[in-house]
Amino acid sequence: MQSARRFFDANSFVEVETPALCKYTPGGARNFLVPSRLHQGQFYALAESPQLFKQLLMVAGYDRYVQIAKCFRDEDLRNDRQPEFTQIDLEMSFIDMEDIMGIGEGMARTLWKEVLGVELPKPFRRMTWTEAMDSYGSDKPDLRFGMPIIDLTDWAPTSGFSVFQKAVEAKGVVRALNAKKANELLSRRTLDTLTEFAKGLGAKGLAWIKIGADPSKAEDWQGPAAKNITPEARAELGRRLGVEAGDVLFFGADSYKGVCTVLGAVRNELGRNLLKLAKWDDWQFLWIHSAPLYEWSEESHAFVANHHPFTSPYAEHVGLLSTDPGKVLSKSYDMVLNGNEIGGGSIRIHDAATQGAVFKALGISEEEAQKKFGFLLHALSFGAPPHGGMAFGLDRLIMLMTDAESIRDVIAYPKTQRGRDEMLDCPTPVSDRQLKDLHIVTC
Ligand code: AMO
Ligand code: AMP
Repeated sequence: MQSARRFFDANSFVEVETPALCKYTPGGARNFLVPSRLHQGQFYALAESPQLFKQLLMVAGYDRYVQIAKCFRDEDLRNDRQPEFTQIDLEMSFIDMEDIMGIGEGMARTLWKEVLGVELPKPFRRMTWTEAMDSYGSDKPDLRFGMPIIDLTDWAPTSGFSVFQKAVEAKGVVRALNAKKANELLSRRTLDTLTEFAKGLGAKGLAWIKIGADPSKAEDWQGPAAKNITPEARAELGRRLGVEAGDVLFFGADSYKGVCTVLGAVRNELGRNLLKLAKWDDWQFLWIHSAPLYEWSEESHAFVANHHPFTSPYAEHVGLLSTDPGKVLSKSYDMVLNGNEIGGGSIRIHDAATQGAVFKALGISEEEAQKKFGFLLHALSFGAPPHGGMAFGLDRLIMLMTDAESIRDVIAYPKTQRGRDEMLDCPTPVSDRQLKDLHIVTC
């Protein structure tokens, strides 16, 4: 924290505290609600991030804001998530993507130098969101190992294997990765376990082929998918995947999204756990930028914002907002370290016309927008500077810097996976009298 503060102070940032008790806004992470005693039946929400406050500060003329802020999210917990956590949160005005990425990188480089004595390479690697999904099946690829995913959709119809052919007929994709020299390390039992793991993620199966001593011989291609593949298709596969003696190939055949999820996870499982190709202090920093502005939600049959609805589209994509929203790319960027998202942010929309078009594509009416975000829209109407920012997950940074297994190991008094504080033994029930004071009726 001190190292980060010194860095931001040296770069003329002003530290401003923003409220934890604020207004409930739907969308984004689920809020914790706090009942108001003075206003019967009304609730505050605990801030999930200082997002709207820091944008208002930009309108007010604070052009470099930073805060080490507690954030609260009532989410399902994982190894890298806590219900209350700390962000290093920043926002700047009269800037573009390069400026924020430069400051973010500068902070990471300072922390690694001052805390760990490690000089990080300059600049960090960059990849578009689409490149990351295509090549690694993930928007936070772990680059401590290779194993890129290779597209085989045009090869699949002539492969001779019906599972692959059917996937392409159903407008899906066929993709594969090559675990180099993994034959000896992956027993039949391990491959069965990995297949079950893939099925747990929604795959119908996980076809694999083990390559023996001589890849030019059909009998040295072993596995459930091997026998069906024609000799010509096998030779072509060998070329495309760079097949050599002792390799193991894994295939996914499904929708693009499904294959990304499964092969992305299989790749991580292989690299980190089964083949042990990843060292904790091999610091592979990476920016993932230009994610689609919207994601199609099968659940609600509508487009939903990928980040938040104030994220700016690229100027040249604004025309697509009304015609082909799925194609609009955003001025967004995430900092990824060894397969973990350690920070993220975006350039914000600062004009009312673009904001209106984005709300429209999200199916948010003008009236609804006013009700939810009226205070921000009102502020923007006075003329807002171009602005943007990002936030780092401080606890996650420390978890990775110290090679901790869980975020809980680096937080004093953490909550368990079930969201409990075992020492305080909370949450706890309260008396009927207290509930009555808060106008909460028990049934
Ligand atoms: P976002 O929601 O991506 O962005 O959060 C920023 C970073 O905070 C960390 N993080 C968490 N750490 C621990 N437990 C959690 N439950 C948790 N949730 C998130 C991650 C993440 O990268 N206001 C925007 C930022 C912006 O656009 O400026 C925001 O909050 O490391
Ligand atoms: P089956 O023809 O269903 O017995 O499957 C043959 C092999 O292909 C098995 O190893 C399955 O795990 C695998 N498989 C089945 N469906 C898929 C799929 N959609 N993607 C990848 N592999 C699959």
